[in-house]
Parts: sequence; C-alpha cells; structure tokens
Amino acid sequence: MAVLETIVVAFWAMLPAYVPNNAAVVAGGGRPIDGGRSWGEKRLLGDGKTWRGTAGGIIAGLALAGVLTMLEGDVSAAIGIDVPPFTPLAALGLAAGAMLGDILASFLKRRTGRQRGAMFPGLDQLDFVVVSLPLTALLATDWFVSVFSWDVILVVVVLTPILHVTTNMIAYKLGLKNEPW
Ligand code: CTP
Ligand code: MG
Repeated sequence: MAVLETIVVAFWAMLPAYVPNNAAVVAGGGRPIDGGRSWGEKRLLGDGKTWRGTAGGIIAGLALAGVLTMLEGDVSAAIGIDVPPFTPLAALGLAAGAMLGDILASFLKRRTGRQRGAMFPGLDQLDFVVVSLPLTALLATDWFVSVFSWDVILVVVVLTPILHVTTNMIAYKLGLKNEPW
C-alpha cells in the first residue's frame, strides 16, 4: 500500500474510535460511573467518567460508523482510495473499546495518585487504541484482519497521539475541556 493510502485508511478506520472521546466531553455530566466510590483513599475512576459521557461517546462512534459505511462507496470513488465499510461488530469494538480504554486509563491514573484532569503522557494519547484494536480484533476478527494490516497499525500508533494532542488543544481553546490534554 502506498503511504498516503495507508494514512487515509488508518484515519478512516479509526474515526469511530476517535470520535467517542470528543463526544464524551460534550455529552458528559451527571452521575459518575463509580458512583462516587473510592478504593482506599482514592476515587475508583473519578467524576470525569460519567454514564452519560460514556453512552454518548459510544452512540456517537456507532452513528459515525453507520454514516461512513453509507458514504464508503462514494468516498472511495471520489478519492481513488478504497476505504472500508464498517460491520456493526467492528463499529462496536472501536467505539466501546475507545471508551473502555479511557475508563481503564482513569482507573490507572487514580491508582497512581493523579487527580481528575491530571495528565499521564503516553497513556492519555494511546489508551483508546490499546483497548479498541484488541476488542475489535476479538469481536470482528475477519474485518479487523482485512483492514488493519501491520502498516495501518503502525500509522495508527504514530498518527493517533498527534491527532489527540491537536483535537484536545482545540477543545481546550473552545472552552469544552478544562485541560489541553
Ligand atoms: N467524560 C465523561 N465520561 C467519559 C469520558 C469523558 O463524562 N467516559 C467527560 C467528563 O466531563 C470529563 C471530560 O469528558 O471531565 C474530559 O474527559 P477526560 O479528559 O477523559 O476526563 P478528565 O476529566 O480529564 O478525567 P481523568 O483524569 O479521569 O481522565
Ligand atoms: Mg483528561
């Protein structure tokens, strides 16, 4: 695969995993998933992981996968690069995996004594990739193998932190997020 083609496919295939984090920021609020409970001195997950944000994130990822699947033929023809449609299970793995990765990251942040909103370089940028890709491989194995070749995975690992830093900076400037990470 040519480099540009690999980048386009990687970005396209990861969109249903990218959007949930941003949608959660907008949808978030209300009851935290941990119900305010602590483990020892520290919160289990913290007030930054809410049911509403998580549900909103997953629904946004699924909806986007549906829209991309409808557009896939036209987009492929228009740009001359064959982008893939999403199966329902692939969409679920990407969207739910992204939210789960983010939740696990908060669990780790709290265990390591980080307050809500504290940064954890590396984890903040790749938490959702680390869970969404394996979950998608598990739920939609054939789809995953056909889309995520090793070069696509490499691009995802390099591209995701860059996109993450950029979009969070924008969300911060727009006043949607409290911290720029
Ligand atoms: N959010 C949410 N539910 C989620 C993820 C995010 O409601 N599952 C919302 C919260 O309002 C959160 C904001 O999106 O404050 C930003 O998300 P994130 O940076 O992941 O949370 P933080 O507040 O930074 O908390 P943490 O330190 O646990 O990451
Ligand atoms: Mg944060």
